[in-house]
Amino acid sequence: MHSFKELSAQFEQKFNTRQFPANPSSLYDPAQYILGIGGKRIRPVLVMMGNELFDTLHNDALQAAAAIELFHNFTLIHDDIMDKAPLRRGQPTVHMKYNESTAILSGDVMLIQCYEYLNKVQSTHKTKLIQVFNKAATEVCEGQQLDMDMEQKLPEQVQYDDYVYMIGLKTSVLLAASLQMGAIIGGGSEGNQQLLYDFGKNVGIAFQMQDDYLDAFGDPAKFGKQQGGDIQVNKKTFLLLKALELCNPSQKELLLQLMVQNPADKVAQVLEIFRQCKVDQWAEQEKERFKARALESLEKIAVVSNRKQALKELTDFLLIRQH
Ligand code: IPE
Ligand code: IPE
Ligand code: MG
Ligand code: MG
Ligand code: MG
Repeated sequence: MHSFKELSAQFEQKFNTRQFPANPSSLYDPAQYILGIGGKRIRPVLVMMGNELFDTLHNDALQAAAAIELFHNFTLIHDDIMDKAPLRRGQPTVHMKYNESTAILSGDVMLIQCYEYLNKVQSTHKTKLIQVFNKAATEVCEGQQLDMDMEQKLPEQVQYDDYVYMIGLKTSVLLAASLQMGAIIGGGSEGNQQLLYDFGKNVGIAFQMQDDYLDAFGDPAKFGKQQGGDIQVNKKTFLLLKALELCNPSQKELLLQLMVQNPADKVAQVLEIFRQCKVDQWAEQEKERFKARALESLEKIAVVSNRKQALKELTDFLLIRQH
């Protein structure tokens, strides 16, 4: 088993070349731009780690890893339009740097390129790999739509479990499927594949919680996204839902008012209430709860424990990351 650092370097060596033709540059340069401005490359490494849990690394894992990273970047371009986000990875988002039509189309072409990579897989399990991927990709769309629907709802119309369900779809299933695809390529049994998927699903929930935490409390210089973007558009994050539960009646009234009135200092005022009712501290425990669930599944996977070390280290990193 290799570490995150080693695997991401190996992935980057293959992936860090131009992925698209030169012309029309107005279509392909934006796609190349988003790939070139960084990204932690977590999902491709998860494919590689899923493979290495059971066997030495196959070339197919690199093809599947590239497919997943292209899909992820496609979702980010479209997500930034939906979320009206000006910044990504510390740089202007694609729709801000170019325009919305370009962002839609260059996202689309990245999705097609993703399938080109999947099509290069040699394994006899190719059909199964595509099924696992398609299921996750469909669920990401479902999760994104639920996220959009929840933005429009009043906070009392959204339950905490609805939030967990929504982030499970928009974010976690892709991490889980990346691991499972790696496990398929590595020859893991169905039972072990499922355990690894469950591990990824719970890590993914904690991962999105950290993302939502950083959106509110992160250092914008490190996080690379606009601070308070979720607060601006009234996302029903775990922080907001818990704050409404913990705060006193006058804080609650103010929070609800801020969501309707959108004053210029909305983000600062909402953050002040979040801090007063200590949701930032509670968020830590909540991430730990899902991490513990994830580790339970990882424990049960029938391979020697030192093969699991890299995944354990990555889990720790994902939940304390600042970007
Ligand atoms: C951002 O994912 C989108 C979420 C699901 C939170 P990452 O935090 O993995 O984004 P990059 O690829 O590293 O920029
Ligand atoms: C992103 O969730 C999920 C997908 C891109 C599918 P967010 O909207 O929280 O991700 P960021 O914060 O923009 O990266
Ligand atoms: Mg979003
Ligand atoms: Mg977003
Ligand atoms: Mg976010």
